[in-house]
Amino acid sequence: MKTLKTQVAIIGAGPSGLLLGQLLHNAGIDTLILERQSPDYVLGRIRAGVLEQGMVELLRQAGVSQRMDAEGLVHGGFELALDGRQVHIDLHALTGGKTVMIYGQTEVTRDLMAARREAGAQTIYQATNVVPHGMKTDEAFVTFEKEGETWRLDCDYIAGCDGFHGVARQSIPADSLKVFERIYPFGWLGILADTPPVHDELVYARHERGFALCSMRSPTRTRYYLQVPTSDHVDHWSDQRFWDELKTRLPQALADKLVTGPSIEKSIAPLRSFVVEPMQYGRMFLVGDAAHIVPPTGAKGLNLAASDVSTLFNILLKVYRENRLDLLEKYSQICLRRVWKAERFSWWMTSMLHRFDEHDAFSQRIAESELEYFIDSEAGRKTIAENYVGLPYEAIE
Ligand code: APR
Ligand code: PHB
Repeated sequence: MKTLKTQVAIIGAGPSGLLLGQLLHNAGIDTLILERQSPDYVLGRIRAGVLEQGMVELLRQAGVSQRMDAEGLVHGGFELALDGRQVHIDLHALTGGKTVMIYGQTEVTRDLMAARREAGAQTIYQATNVVPHGMKTDEAFVTFEKEGETWRLDCDYIAGCDGFHGVARQSIPADSLKVFERIYPFGWLGILADTPPVHDELVYARHERGFALCSMRSPTRTRYYLQVPTSDHVDHWSDQRFWDELKTRLPQALADKLVTGPSIEKSIAPLRSFVVEPMQYGRMFLVGDAAHIVPPTGAKGLNLAASDVSTLFNILLKVYRENRLDLLEKYSQICLRRVWKAERFSWWMTSMLHRFDEHDAFSQRIAESELEYFIDSEAGRKTIAENYVGLPYEAIE
């Protein structure tokens, strides 16, 4: 078996793995990333598009913000459309000046891949059969196959940045993990189109026929979503049907302004809340989607991955520079405090804005009344805004 050696072995070249790799590389800590797919496959996935200020600052710290700062759209608010009524959530005013950045996860990933290539740090794409070993010993290593050969990668630590379906979490004995999960009885049908956005901010719409979201990637590219039953299929949705349904769910003033066009991507994603505790098993740390999933309604998935990365990076920095080994066992508890707050917000936004067929008439009215209470109260709007722009990162001391 051929062998390799690094300080931190990273499984997965999604945003979590690439951002952690870049921060560690810049700090002089050696990393090697193992990714199952090809770069083109990774970049072909259409994912989220709203970055919290904490993530924006982390990308700047990593030295990969040039294109985001030039092309990203800074949004100081978003719009709630509630059965025809429009309410502006002024993030900037409600949070003392905070904003979010509209910049697609695909572009973040592209920038991180380019930076890693320029830095000369190694990523092995199309690595198969990746398996972590010895996490509870002083000799952790990862085995994998590449072009028919088996390799052993010796390392100090393993970062499991391999998403929800990855191998890292699945390599931890089941009796060492506690799983918390909720699966929602609907999904989001999303389309990408080269059309101008219907509004200059994102629009989250609640409607008796179901939720709709108008998002964007740029002034000429839109990303729109419709709540659909889990059993639905994209083949049932022609572009025309999608646009007609979206118009029905939007307030008239917005529906009248909606510019339609051919879709360039169309897919259905299920909605799930998922957390695994703890996020560490000996020398292996779970980061991002490998440890937790949120429904997309609060735009928190990618941002939670970034806060995990920040926590692990700052811990590893102190481990290597100051021999602060005591911090390693704090990773999980520090991450989980913030993870659970974002899980709560994402669940709440989902509950407030979607149609739940199984709800009786009373539960439906209570949900409507709860959201109306929040938006009619300054304190309520502040609560929504401070969660949406992102709760603070904990200092590592
Ligand atoms: N071996 C190697 N790589 C793997 C394996 C495996 N066994 N399993 C999965 N991977 C790779 C995937 O191909 C993918 O490129 O790990 C990567 C995981 O990336 P993401 O799924 O994007 O997860 P993460 O980097 O944590 O990104 C945060 O939060 O809400 C979401 O949309 C958001 O996808 C984003 C995620
Ligand atoms: C997106 O642009 O894909 C997007 C935006 C906001 C969300 C979810 C998805 O809450």
